[in-house]
Amino acid sequence: MAQALTESVNRGEQLKRDGIVIRTYDLWKTYIMGDQEINAVSGCDIEIKRGEYVAIMGPSGSGKSTLMNLIGCLDTPSRGEYYINGRLVSDMTDDELARIRNKEIGFVGFATRKSDSYFRRSICWLAPHRCIMWSCR
Ligand SMILES: Nc1ncnc2c1ncn2[C@@H]1O[C@H](COP(=O)(O)OP(=O)(O)OP(=O)(O)O)[C@@H](O)[C@H]1O
Ligand SMILES: [Mg+2]
Repeated sequence: MAQALTESVNRGEQLKRDGIVIRTYDLWKTYIMGDQEINAVSGCDIEIKRGEYVAIMGPSGSGKSTLMNLIGCLDTPSRGEYYINGRLVSDMTDDELARIRNKEIGFVGFATRKSDSYFRRSICWLAPHRCIMWSCR
């Protein structure tokens, strides 16, 4: 337990030194629907540096929104690790998470219209780090 904590602190410090604001390791989100398991996000490793603009693209149902919700700390992963600004999100207290959601993360969901199709998009940003993710298809 103490060793795992030291490892996550060391890993987080290294990520901060490298200017990595968002880092996921083998992130999964699995929904259970009756006797079916739906892996909306399966084993996702992402690395986003300070100041980067990132587009998450993929066909409908490929897991963009689920991933954005995890990165925006609106949802919790079924498995894997997520570091935000050098901190392991699963180690944060409710108060720390609330502060991060309130002060550091912005989230906007919207739809745009192209001829008769609507495209659902969302943007997530981390204010102090000028790092933006854009989900579209
Ligand atoms: N709450 C949920 N319960 C069960 N399955 C879900 C849930 N949310 C998403 N899924 C499933 O997870 C998969 C990924 O969905 P998600 O909405 O993340 O995809 P998407 O890439 O954002 O799609 P779109 O481009 O249509 O917005 C899909 O198979 C979807 O049906
Ligand atoms: Mg979506």
